[in-house]
Amino acid sequence: MENKLMRSWQADEFGEISEVLKIKNIPVPEPKKGEALIKVIVSSIGLPDKLAVEGNYPFVTNPPITPGQEFVGIVEKTGADFPFIEGTKVLGTSEYYGKGYGAVADYTICSKTTVLPFPTKLSDEQAAAFPGTYHVAYVGLVNRGDIKDGDSLLVLGAAGRTGAAALQLGKALGAKVIAVIRNDEQKEFCISQGADVVLNSSDEKLIDKIMELTDHKGVDVIYDTVGGKAHKSVINAIAYKGRVILVGFAGGSWPELNPQHIMFKGYAVMGALNTIRTEEEKQDAIKKLSELIGRGDINPPKAKLFNFNDTISAMSEIGKSKEGIVVQLS
Ligand SMILES: NC(=O)c1ccc[n+]([C@@H]2O[C@H](COP(=O)([O-])OP(=O)(O)OC[C@H]3O[C@@H](n4cnc5c(N)ncnc54)[C@H](OP(=O)(O)O)[C@@H]3O)[C@@H](O)[C@H]2O)c1
Repeated sequence: MENKLMRSWQADEFGEISEVLKIKNIPVPEPKKGEALIKVIVSSIGLPDKLAVEGNYPFVTNPPITPGQEFVGIVEKTGADFPFIEGTKVLGTSEYYGKGYGAVADYTICSKTTVLPFPTKLSDEQAAAFPGTYHVAYVGLVNRGDIKDGDSLLVLGAAGRTGAAALQLGKALGAKVIAVIRNDEQKEFCISQGADVVLNSSDEKLIDKIMELTDHKGVDVIYDTVGGKAHKSVINAIAYKGRVILVGFAGGSWPELNPQHIMFKGYAVMGALNTIRTEEEKQDAIKKLSELIGRGDINPPKAKLFNFNDTISAMSEIGKSKEGIVVQLS
């Protein structure tokens, strides 16, 4: 396998996607201990891919970059100590995404810590984005936010991919769900995803409205996918012993946290990543999410499918489409 080449989209420098992202033939990578080589069927792409190629994603500091953090694929070759045998269909997070081995390629590498069993009730394209949306929401709402039936949940960036998954999961877990958006046209979409109430982040009475909706206690959990000014517009509505979950910075910057505010209001700030959790937490998430899918309590959106050769067009859809964006490899 060492000398075999594969097709891969790759950017050797940061820049305008249509200029720097190109199809290349590169060596098929070798899985090490705890890893597997995956033959990619579909790969989901989203905002982090766009930001990474443009040089604006803090976790990817050097090219080359191959888009596609998440995938559905078949285990082609295992290193020692990988939990699935060759030929198994799995989904997961691409291990060397920021090092030129993302999943918009014939093969990618996945580690035992990030691989997940394929959820059989989902289509390939629904499942492709599942780790970075629903598993992240599970980490944020359950493992970090400790959300309980009847708690209030506020989702920032509620109409985005990650936000919409938190709306659905929050509702399925019994929370009162408040969606915060910046464009009123997205109100109906948020309601279709489980929001009980939809508010606009530019509303001058935003805090008053959140306080009224929560019997003046404030909101128990804030799920923040936007950061920056959007975070600032709602943080004064956090409840005593509330949990603020940092998920992303779609607004361009992380929130400015105020230790004095955290101290005097007695709340916690935690981060959520689907790759940062214990094996026990991962197994619990797999089981509970699969039960919720089975009962129809959560239903990941369909995706727009693009052929491998049309990856540039797929990347240009990021931020425009409410559907997921998925590139088909085979
Ligand atoms: N922690 C994790 O594991 C994880 C996983 C996936 C993603 N993320 C991160 O989460 C963030 C969102 O990703 P995504 O895939 O959900 O992106 P997305 O689908 O493009 O959604 C982003 C949402 O944020 C809103 N938004 C953008 N800029 C805003 C601003 N300045 N003020 C208010 N709202 C704003 C957008 O509103 P409009 O619809 O009005 O444009 C959109 O609804 C990214 O930073 C990403 O890196 C983290």
